[in-house]
Amino acid sequence: MEIIHVSAECYPVAKAGGLGDVVGALPKYQTAMGHTAKVVMPMYRTKFLYQNDWIIDFKGHANLGNWWFSFTVIKEKTNRLGFDLYLVDINGLLDREKVYGYDDDTERFTAFQIAVINWMTHWQHKPDVIHCHDHHTGLIPFMVKYCYDYNKLADVPTVFTIHNAQYQGWMGWNKSSYIPRWDSWKHGLLEWNKTINPLASAVKNAWKVTTVSYSYLDELKYNSNGLEKLFEFEKGKCVGILNGIDADVWDPAVDTYLENHFSKESVTEGKLKNKQLLCERFNLDINKPLFVFIGRLVGEKAADVLPDAIVSSMYSLNNGVNVLILGSGEPQVEWQLSQLAPHYPGNYNVFIGYNEALSHLMYAGADFLLMPSRVEPCGLNQMYAMRYGTVPVVRNTGGLRDTVVDMGDFEGWGIRFNHATAGDISYSIQRAAKLYSDDEVHLNWMRQRMMKIDNSWENATKQYLNVYGELK
Ligand code: ADP
Ligand code: GLC
Repeated sequence: MEIIHVSAECYPVAKAGGLGDVVGALPKYQTAMGHTAKVVMPMYRTKFLYQNDWIIDFKGHANLGNWWFSFTVIKEKTNRLGFDLYLVDINGLLDREKVYGYDDDTERFTAFQIAVINWMTHWQHKPDVIHCHDHHTGLIPFMVKYCYDYNKLADVPTVFTIHNAQYQGWMGWNKSSYIPRWDSWKHGLLEWNKTINPLASAVKNAWKVTTVSYSYLDELKYNSNGLEKLFEFEKGKCVGILNGIDADVWDPAVDTYLENHFSKESVTEGKLKNKQLLCERFNLDINKPLFVFIGRLVGEKAADVLPDAIVSSMYSLNNGVNVLILGSGEPQVEWQLSQLAPHYPGNYNVFIGYNEALSHLMYAGADFLLMPSRVEPCGLNQMYAMRYGTVPVVRNTGGLRDTVVDMGDFEGWGIRFNHATAGDISYSIQRAAKLYSDDEVHLNWMRQRMMKIDNSWENATKQYLNVYGELK
């Protein structure tokens, strides 16, 4: 099959979160299984762009409303990611340093989608499936089906994967002229709640919809930022497929970011050496359990509850734990987390920013990973943590529910709690600290147990191929 993935992120080209990891891995595994997988994404100004060689694949032009723009599609020369990688350059619009967060994101991603479809109409053949990821590519299923200019592609199946339904790409009807000529009778297929809603439109128009875990698919029917009725109505075409993790990037035995490698057999010593590096660098106490949080400091991740949870845990455990935070996001939360540092010297530290290398060291050196997420469609952090023998301490939701079994259950290896509150988090930290101090044998068994879990992409890749197989 020939599959073309359309996405705003793809690791290592550009990544803001788990979407990048998934789109950097799934096509590689599809290619390894004998299929032709391609990725097309915007050409941002990233290191990857300047460090690799490119050829021009296509030059074209299109309109975004009244604005006429030209675009270029370039292709990475050596296929070094294990699949064909294409970048769309739209001068002044996409060539920025960050992936998201600009006032004109609507224009940027709408123009990107138009350029992608325009380019595909010039191919000599048609792909077997166009696989779109998240709302930045959510107008494609509609445009392919109903825009007159793209009629040639109208019968190409589209699959839409929801990595996060909190963000939907809403745009007012005053921007409807951005979408190239279409029959206005079809406006209901673009709309939700009186605005153009690219995520809802994709759910209505894609041939199949997937979510990145089974529990998240269920949750969307009662908690999806306003789209609950839509998910109930469209449930027949929705499937949950749990993400995998990329073993080439995430393996403590060979991880290129680590100085001290380890396997299941050497997990205790291996983790201790990595913990030592973290404790030296961040002035933490090697003898106390180390809890880490890695992620976007936003409401979805319940990052706003962390400051209270940390204060409460430090109090109830008499400063008997270390906490290290890596992340960036809402300024208020960044500030609150930073200003805690002087209160707990030797026990607490924070790194505000994005740092891939540090994240690997933290998965390797931490004893526990905190994930109190209010919403977690899949969550990759807990799977990376498990692969590195770090006990996940997670809220009982979405993909966290599907991947972590509480240590109180039969053969469980993690800690689960129900509410994103300081009380529940602090109680879970106390459970974890007790395990660390009183039952080293059980802790080591848990580490080895979770390192054996197979969360590889092979299984998920087969499930995606089954979904494609059901199209037509
Ligand atoms: P989401 O995509 O919702 O942010 P995921 O758990 O799916 O959550 O994936 C997050 C990914 O981003 C992981 O690879 C995680 O290690 C990485 N990550 C998040 N924040 C940072 C950060 N500040 N520095 C380095 N890596 C980060
Ligand atoms: C999203 C979700 C996260 C998921 C990731 C990859 O960003 O928030 O839970 O793991 O996409 O699918």
